[in-house]
Amino acid sequence: MRQALLLLALIVLAAGPTRADDTLTLTFGDNVRRFTAAELLARPDASDIEVPDDVSYGRAMRYRAVPLLALIGEVPKDLDTLEASAADGFVSQIPRALVEKGANGGSTAWLAIDDAQQPWPPLPGKDASAGPFYIVWQHPARSGIGSEQWPYQTVAITGVESPAHRWPQMRVSDDLPANAPARHGQSVFTTQCMPCHRIKGAGVAELGPDLGQPMNPTQYMTEEGLRALIRNPKAVRTWPNQIMPGFDEKKLSAADLDAVIAYLAQMARQ
Ligand code: HEC
Repeated sequence: MRQALLLLALIVLAAGPTRADDTLTLTFGDNVRRFTAAELLARPDASDIEVPDDVSYGRAMRYRAVPLLALIGEVPKDLDTLEASAADGFVSQIPRALVEKGANGGSTAWLAIDDAQQPWPPLPGKDASAGPFYIVWQHPARSGIGSEQWPYQTVAITGVESPAHRWPQMRVSDDLPANAPARHGQSVFTTQCMPCHRIKGAGVAELGPDLGQPMNPTQYMTEEGLRALIRNPKAVRTWPNQIMPGFDEKKLSAADLDAVIAYLAQMARQ
């Protein structure tokens, strides 16, 4: 009997991310709150939502979710960014203004909760689901939500200052003209690359290499190779545990690709 129970426990643990005791930690200054999936599912504002074009699953999905804005509540003004951290070291920096826009005709952010009773399927090509918690958007085009602003397997949301404010070394020089591509590239980098990469030590992501130190890829890759790698890393080199997703035209326009490369080159110069 003991052994059977142990075996059962092991099977439940091995089944992965949908465990009733998974918690989400919300930290805003000294205010730290922890919620289990069950507590979030029991909130009166939990709703069934449709996400027709889910970025991570690549298809239409239905979720039980709570409005992110309501969950966060009132927070100090200087904490203008939501840092959503996943267990694997992926850390998305989401401007709070983007979440607030949902109340004024912009994209609406939800915290989807994986329900142990009806667990979500594994993500395409992965052995785990997007749970326990996953930030999803309705009408993502309205506010231009990027593909890396859908953090899955989220375990913590922390109110922080904006990345350029926290890490001045990632800021392009003030001398650059307002319309310099590298300036726009800084914001593309923050949204699409920083969840996995640091630059010159700026950032908290742990998945990919620092793209500014000791050397910057614009110093050791050809521009052609770098462009090809960002569009589709597998077009340049392959190995079994490769992680970086490709950024096709839908995820990164031609202008955004030019801008992010101009930004990396500018970082190498500064
Ligand atoms: C989901 C995580 C993720 C995102 C988002 C991401 N990368 Fe990566 N990137 C990686 C990882 C991990 C590697 C190491 C190779 C691998 O495992 O794929 C990598 C490798 C690279 C390399 C090769 C560095 C070297 O010296 O080998 C470059 C250049 C690069 N990324 C640029 C970018 C740029 C630019 C963006 C944003 C447009 C970006 N990456 C977005 C995870 C990511």
